[in-house]
Amino acid sequence: MSKLAVVILAAGEGKRMKSERPKVLHEILGRPLVDYPVDLALSLGAERVVVVVGVQAEQVKAHLLRRRNPRIRFALQKKQLGTGHATLAAAPALKGFSGEVLILYGDVPLLTPATIKRLRAAHHKKRAKLSLITARLAEPRGYGRILRDSSGEVLGIVEEADCTPGQRGITEANPGIYLCEAGFLFRMLPQLKKDNRQKEYYLTDLVGLAVAEGVLIATLEAHDPRETFGINSRSQLGQAEAVLRARVNAALMESGVTLEDPERTWIAPGVKIGPDTVIESGARLLGKSRIGRACVIEAGSRLDDSDLGNRVEVRAGSVLESSTVGDDTTIGPMARLRPGSMVGKRVRIGNFVELKNARVGDDTKAAHLTYLGDARVGKNVNIGCGTITCNYDGVKKSVTVIEDDVFVGSDTQFIAPVKVGKGAYIGSGSTITRNVPPGALAITRAPEKHKPGWAKKRAELKKKGGSSGKKKN
Ligand code: UD1
Ligand code: CA
Repeated sequence: MSKLAVVILAAGEGKRMKSERPKVLHEILGRPLVDYPVDLALSLGAERVVVVVGVQAEQVKAHLLRRRNPRIRFALQKKQLGTGHATLAAAPALKGFSGEVLILYGDVPLLTPATIKRLRAAHHKKRAKLSLITARLAEPRGYGRILRDSSGEVLGIVEEADCTPGQRGITEANPGIYLCEAGFLFRMLPQLKKDNRQKEYYLTDLVGLAVAEGVLIATLEAHDPRETFGINSRSQLGQAEAVLRARVNAALMESGVTLEDPERTWIAPGVKIGPDTVIESGARLLGKSRIGRACVIEAGSRLDDSDLGNRVEVRAGSVLESSTVGDDTTIGPMARLRPGSMVGKRVRIGNFVELKNARVGDDTKAAHLTYLGDARVGKNVNIGCGTITCNYDGVKKSVTVIEDDVFVGSDTQFIAPVKVGKGAYIGSGSTITRNVPPGALAITRAPEKHKPGWAKKRAELKKKGGSSGKKKN
């Protein structure tokens, strides 16, 4: 198969979103729109993926640069003079490339690799120089329409703004996905004119130019027109998310995952879930999260880029970010695992427990009201209710180390940096500032005093004082 490069147009303003954020950074299932064509391009094995940026270019670029993928390159379209003009801006980034160029729009996120493979097959079969996908839409409003002659050959694309009333009735729409031979593309683009309603260089006019040159054009009708859905407004953003959610959820249920309420369960396409796992209503499983088999994710929990073993229970209302959890562990309800938390097997992280950059060994329990930040907690440790690692002194963060088999009484504060040796005991209510040797008991409680009869004396004192009469209000 010939070489492939992909151009993704993402320089437009997205006025109809009424937003300060660039359109292509609006999210569906927790991922910015532009990530979808970028992922598609990479999965197709494109050797270069050129993202054309313009409006708020820096933000879009910064987002994609985080991937550190050398195949992703950028082209700048300084002024937004139309999709044809934007594609031409990609020319320098494709210098020296000869092969096929696939052009995608940054606001069309639901396309599947299978459909692009079919397009490439149709392109090769017809030995075409230009191929495009078309979609039959019951409601084609907002899309360019495909013009054909009486024998069914493509004549061109007409934008809705330029349609005659008759053309407006055409239901075969242009989703904006084109495959062209690179040399042909960059020879034709400079010939585009902006003699249209919007005074823009339309990429769609490429089709008319190709017809005039007499080159072969292949078209492929999408099996499922929902794949070609373009997003221009918030309501279309919501609709696209619903389509993708249904697609992802159906595949998961097919593979043996129970979704109690699929319409109210948000799972990103990159998430992997093992069979016999049950996901309750309102859960959001995002990023590249991985969940093992026979887990339960209760209502309203949120996982982002987190990795769970098998038979893990995440109880209601818990939040996990960039964390890993071992087999047979229970998290929550209402627990929070902040980035960098690594929890072992058979651990119990209970209600109102927060972990940040904390390692917790196997069989350890922190069942209630606890903060473990920058902590290394060993195996089989009991962390009593209300334990806090004081990891921040206002300037720097420090580490608390708690070795295996330690028992921490309730309401303990560890003033980091501090280390508790294996098998030590910490008395309830202690403030630990120095390293505790293995096997020792550390206790910092102030001596307790009892004053017999104190309550009665106080009452008498109050009575005397009260006779002078003035009530404070
Ligand atoms: C475009 C198509 C239309 C098609 C529809 C499918 C053209 C002229 N029209 O219309 O036929 O049915 O998509 O969704 O191509 N962009 C730039 N630079 C620009 C203008 C746009 O990079 O100067 C980018 C946008 O960021 C967007 C994409 O190109 O990602 C499409 O632009 P948009 O303005 O949304 O085009 P539509 O009006 O939807
Ligand atoms: Ca669009």
